[in-house]
Amino acid sequence: MSPLLQALWISLGVAQLGVPLAYLVVMRRIVSSRNYHVNLNLGQEPTVSILVPTYNEAGVIETKLENIVRSDYPREKVEIIVVDSGSSDNTSELAQNFFKLSGWKGMVVEEAERKGKPVGLNLGLKHSSGELVCISDAECQWDKEALRNAVKYLSDPSIGSVSGVHQPLKSPGVLSSEIEHSYRSVYRILRIAESKIHSTPLAEGEIQLFRRRELTGFDPTVGGDDTCAALCMIEKGLRAISAQDVVFFEPTPAAWQSRLRQKTRRGQHILQAFLRHKNLLFGRSPFSHFIFPMEFYLYAVNPLFFLPFLALTILILATSPLILYLVTAGTILVLLVPDLRSGAITYVTNNLTMLLAILQELRGEKQLRWKKIDENRPKVRIELPQLVQKRCADPGKHPFTLNPLSERG
Ligand code: GDD
Ligand code: MN
Repeated sequence: MSPLLQALWISLGVAQLGVPLAYLVVMRRIVSSRNYHVNLNLGQEPTVSILVPTYNEAGVIETKLENIVRSDYPREKVEIIVVDSGSSDNTSELAQNFFKLSGWKGMVVEEAERKGKPVGLNLGLKHSSGELVCISDAECQWDKEALRNAVKYLSDPSIGSVSGVHQPLKSPGVLSSEIEHSYRSVYRILRIAESKIHSTPLAEGEIQLFRRRELTGFDPTVGGDDTCAALCMIEKGLRAISAQDVVFFEPTPAAWQSRLRQKTRRGQHILQAFLRHKNLLFGRSPFSHFIFPMEFYLYAVNPLFFLPFLALTILILATSPLILYLVTAGTILVLLVPDLRSGAITYVTNNLTMLLAILQELRGEKQLRWKKIDENRPKVRIELPQLVQKRCADPGKHPFTLNPLSERG
């Protein structure tokens, strides 16, 4: 093996593995050592318009609305707007019926033709009258306190977007569920730490809140409405955060094909949002100096090194017994330590899905009207885990107070 190849292998290793690992280590420290640095004005209960975009969600819409109305927030302060885009099932009728029977303030806005989620959200926005706007996908559910906790952060005028953290519903023994847990544990550290520093570029359409007057609309030409909206707020000089006490649940598709399809599309939409807001790489906040360049690198550049690094590693292992020995020992160590194992699984699956996402984007398929994942719309109602959350004025002072008491078996 020539010294040149060895030097290339080491450089690729540093870029591929070293940089993300170093970032994760730094961010882990930040999660436990910093708080959100917010100036909360507690006790306010502004009116909230909750927009639920739907396309053929008859199987879950009632559970969704029931879950929203179980939130710990005053009923008279909430209006729910279901925006249905030409569903061929009876989503609209079911939602309308729900409002009639429950007496909750709500409406169904219908688009004759499906033009994509952001177009639907914009239509819902036009009909909204709340001081705050909250978007939420149909097949996810919220923790009872999620809405109240999210609203609290917007009492700080420097915050423009508040999103939450995903608590995957665990199905023990199902590989995709295990992988999702690993991925989310890493993902959550990054989102919370970035939010504590300034902002995180990634947001979740499962729950995301804004002040109505600051929200100009959703860009219909790119996917990743949630991430795009967060980046828009950062462009306005506001912060976009993911709060650790704003928790939502969403099932993970068990079949790897569905999972791959979903992750690739989500990754591609994140890329589209990042590219649309690439000017933020040149801003003046800590977000522009540090967080966004790093996330840009992780999503758009790092995956490109994955296959060359893998190929070179195999070549080197075949020619150097010493390196073979070291790499085998390292791999065994990684597999034995749960945190390292999570990191490794996340690393490999993410690189592969992001590679596919980049290829798909290069092929020009924007995927603005995607095929939903039926497995994520279970016929039977899912029991949500109960969460223990310490109530406190600034939850940032109590990192990781989230403890599922019980998880679905
Ligand atoms: N009104 C409307 N019009 N709603 C739509 C349309 C549309 O054309 N297409 C999808 N939706 C709704 C779905 O009915 C669902 O409520 C929500 O958008 C999210 O769609 P899912 O099929 O559940 O996708 P996901 O869970 O993978 O979505 C994630 O990635 C998206 C970007 O790819 C979430 O993070 C979304 O918030 C995000 O937009
Ligand atoms: Mn979803």
